[in-house]
Amino acid sequence: MTLLSRSERAWWRDAVTYQIYIRSFADGNGDGIGDIEGIRSRLPYLKSLGVDAIWITPWYPSPQNDHGYDVANYMDIEPMYGTLEDAQRLIDETHQHGMKLIVDIVPNHCSDQHVWFQEAVNSPIGSAARDRFIFRDGKGENGELPPNNWQSVFGGPAWHRLNDADGNPEQWYLHLFAVEQPDFNWENPEVREHFEEILKFWLDRGVDGFRIDVAHALIKYPGLPDIPPQTHRTDTSKVDAEDFVTDANAEVTPPELRPTWDQEGVHEIYRAWRKILNSYPGDRMAVAEAWVSPASRIARYLRPDELANSFNFDFLTSRWEAKYLTHMINRAVDAMAEVGAPPSWVFNNHDVTRSVDRFDLGLQNRQSNTIERQGDPAKLDIARGTRRARAGALLMLALPGGAYIYQGEELAVPEVRDIPEDRLTDPIWKMSGYKDRGRDGCRVPIAWKSSVDGAFGFSTNSALAPTEAWLPQSPWWGSYSVESQAGIEGSTHSLYSEALAIRKGESGLGDGPMQWLDAGPDVIAFSRPGNFACYVNFGSPIEVPKGATVLLSSSALADNVIPTDTAVWLRLS
Ligand code: NOJ
Ligand code: CA
Repeated sequence: MTLLSRSERAWWRDAVTYQIYIRSFADGNGDGIGDIEGIRSRLPYLKSLGVDAIWITPWYPSPQNDHGYDVANYMDIEPMYGTLEDAQRLIDETHQHGMKLIVDIVPNHCSDQHVWFQEAVNSPIGSAARDRFIFRDGKGENGELPPNNWQSVFGGPAWHRLNDADGNPEQWYLHLFAVEQPDFNWENPEVREHFEEILKFWLDRGVDGFRIDVAHALIKYPGLPDIPPQTHRTDTSKVDAEDFVTDANAEVTPPELRPTWDQEGVHEIYRAWRKILNSYPGDRMAVAEAWVSPASRIARYLRPDELANSFNFDFLTSRWEAKYLTHMINRAVDAMAEVGAPPSWVFNNHDVTRSVDRFDLGLQNRQSNTIERQGDPAKLDIARGTRRARAGALLMLALPGGAYIYQGEELAVPEVRDIPEDRLTDPIWKMSGYKDRGRDGCRVPIAWKSSVDGAFGFSTNSALAPTEAWLPQSPWWGSYSVESQAGIEGSTHSLYSEALAIRKGESGLGDGPMQWLDAGPDVIAFSRPGNFACYVNFGSPIEVPKGATVLLSSSALADNVIPTDTAVWLRLS
């Protein structure tokens, strides 16, 4: 197979995409909540950082019970974020800056305020309106028990019982996430048609692609069987560390034992979506959020007639260890190669504890209580975590394929652990019975300035105090500001922008082959075309290989020695 050059192949095969969590990126109208105008005002920042594309989390009208992942209308803009005209202007200006824009699409569920769900609730049992969702009678003598034992990802039962007009309890509906997020019935052709229209609506406005929320959950196993207790996992990513090292050969859990995830029927949906994407000019793309494992299962979503791109979440569940990461990289690269797709690496997103904390504490994205999610603060060494996160960044940006950066990652912000309980907003907090603080700690509004005015420059309203932003910013937050890092030598912001600039100039980076180099068990080392090499040292200090020139390093090198938890980019002789 001849490899196309970077300018010949589809943009997303190499792209570094910046994830914008819209509520927390920049507030352009002074109300303490991020919005479209805020994003627009920061396009020059994104351009100069050097990213190729931006992904914007859901910006549709929504009661915000899950901050936009509860969509009330897929073909409009949430008034608090702006208007359809604002969105159009943002799409056009992003293109004028030479960047691509992808939007988030949420097909598994909508908001309970969506007109279809309202119609369903007000329509009789068995009606066509109800068939767009998953309604069932309860078990027990009077239907007082949920239809099966499925659990919501956010905690508690995945079913909610309705009351009829007279206040008498009647059927239950399925919600794999919050109570306010009823699951669609994807066996219903109307649902399929609706989403095809939505895709066209945004493609017509010029978006370059879609990030597909819980792409693996749309189809449920027929008959909605109980999940046997021993296999009861709400999330297939929660494999044990030991499984993880050996699971390349692991048997895939039979579909009836994972009735809510990764069913064969989802692939037909994505084949239809691919046809729509291909009917538009340019390389319109889709990236799947599919928490399935092992990587061979993810690869099935990336077959050429399906989605072609998917987040690789392995770094979110990985310990900071050379052996572990090498295994994971090999497995992903091999699985993607089989379907001709590039891997797309992810270190952070709005759902997981920040990488500074994760890599330091060896967190594996487990999520049943706060300590599992965020780790033990008494054991956290932020300096070491920052060193690792910076080294990891050079690793990720040197690996084959694309990468996704989550806002604030380029500033090495740590997880925020001191949001007062009465300000927590993630539905997980309540649904876990107040055991798990949830994801607010990685969603705090960005500090653009070091001084407190305008909530550290997050808002155009200079009178807004840090505690008045929609999620409060802690007093120490300003020390992670853009102002304190952009253009400052040695800052994490500078590391990212230098790495992205080098990446642009190195035609061997992005999609394409890699070659492992042997540098001992505690080092990940590989080369890319053009005599480029990346060394990541997890163990005691090592020397830079003889004759190599250092292009970039994640921490300072003294006497050509690569310290522990440090990555270097090299030109080999
Ligand atoms: C995944 C999204 O990333 C997350 O934020 C959301 O809560 C769930 N899907 C439900 O839509
Ligand atoms: Ca605002």
